[in-house]
Amino acid sequence: MNHRGRDSRPFLFTIESSSKVWVGFVKQTIVGDLNLLNSSFMEHTILVTGGAGFIGSNFILHQMECDSAAIANLDKLTYAGNLRNLEAISQERRYEFVHGDIADRGLMRSVLNRRKPRAIVHFAAESHVDRSIRGPDDFIRTNVDGTFALLEEARAYWESLNGSDRTEFRLLHVSTDEVFGSLGARDPAFSETTPYAPNSPYAATKAASDHLVRAYHHTYGLPVLTTNCSNNYGRFQFPEKLIPLMILNAHNHKPLPVYGDGQNVRDWLYVKDHCEAIAIVLARGRVGETYNIGGWNEKRNLEIVETICDLVDEIAGRRGGSRRELITFVKDRPGHDRRYAMDASKIERELGWRPRETFESGISKTVRWYLKNEDWVRDVTSGGYRQWIETHYSS
Ligand SMILES: NC(=O)c1ccc[n+]([C@@H]2O[C@H](COP(=O)([O-])OP(=O)(O)OC[C@H]3O[C@@H](n4cnc5c(N)ncnc54)[C@H](O)[C@@H]3O)[C@@H](O)[C@H]2O)c1
Repeated sequence: MNHRGRDSRPFLFTIESSSKVWVGFVKQTIVGDLNLLNSSFMEHTILVTGGAGFIGSNFILHQMECDSAAIANLDKLTYAGNLRNLEAISQERRYEFVHGDIADRGLMRSVLNRRKPRAIVHFAAESHVDRSIRGPDDFIRTNVDGTFALLEEARAYWESLNGSDRTEFRLLHVSTDEVFGSLGARDPAFSETTPYAPNSPYAATKAASDHLVRAYHHTYGLPVLTTNCSNNYGRFQFPEKLIPLMILNAHNHKPLPVYGDGQNVRDWLYVKDHCEAIAIVLARGRVGETYNIGGWNEKRNLEIVETICDLVDEIAGRRGGSRRELITFVKDRPGHDRRYAMDASKIERELGWRPRETFESGISKTVRWYLKNEDWVRDVTSGGYRQWIETHYSS
């Protein structure tokens, strides 16, 4: 049985058995002086940055379901952040949303000192390669300067901790396979020791943040973990990225724009598998190590789009010909990397993680989710959601 409590708020307790976790609240006065409790009794909080985005919101929902920790979610709510993803848990006492920027050091300091997290899971980033080509400034600001600010505040916080709070603290930095550059058709997949060779402004800023995280471990001893993951797909992905864009365009009989010859290869991982991998690295990963996470699913872009067309035809029904006829080849993205592939054997060997979903099962669930959740899609694509944010979060 673990106890967790904060100030005068109701006192949260959990009782864990092999198959279930019961969570409840008693008033703190029943428990008495919290200072008498040893640290394993103190509230276990995970601070998540960028938790309103695609992967962050899936991670928070996964953690709330599978773990008893409280979650503080700090997010700037850029165009990519969507609190609707978290509606199901927004009223839970274990969950808190903080609207803010990771580059705001005063805010970061006060959140860390108030919530005293056992771990930080750092998702916040500008994440879209095409946007980084059009305007890299925000990528430098958030991915490089923001990560630096977070590291500085995390270091000061960690150095203020004692005993097991200090030894158990972890900062997990979520990164990408794009830092490794591009592979030839017969090259071996990226491993954790592949030299960095980022080719887009997005990849370069993520590489810079990975290096800073590494340096904070080697220089200051900050207990960090880094994960580099391949392309994710699943629910809640902003519909500017390949898979949701193609599902929605195919459903609406709009053209399906494919870059170049459509032969660029990516490795694809279902987002829930990524979330599980992050949770496992957080719990059992070796401090200072990096772990590649991948789906063992190399696919050409054209193959992805054709699969989506066939699934949409099957689920929504055809109106005339196959949706494959909507595919149009458009001018290639500048500097478009040809192939990414991930060797995820280290995480399997050391931590026992492997993806649960095959590409076929994951993509089928994903297409069904987007076709079923028309309200969510309408909100993020119509501007209604942005309006809601402006009304609710204008200062
Ligand atoms: N999507 C992928 O396929 C993929 C693959 C591997 C790694 N990653 C990494 O995973 C992380 C999450 O990716 P995603 O696809 O969920 O991204 P996303 O763009 O969907 O979400 C990013 C979130 O960060 C928030 N954010 C942006 N700038 C911020 C700031 N300055 N302060 C606080 N919050 C801020 C946004 O509001 C948004 O909620 C990123 O670090 C990305 O590099 C993504």
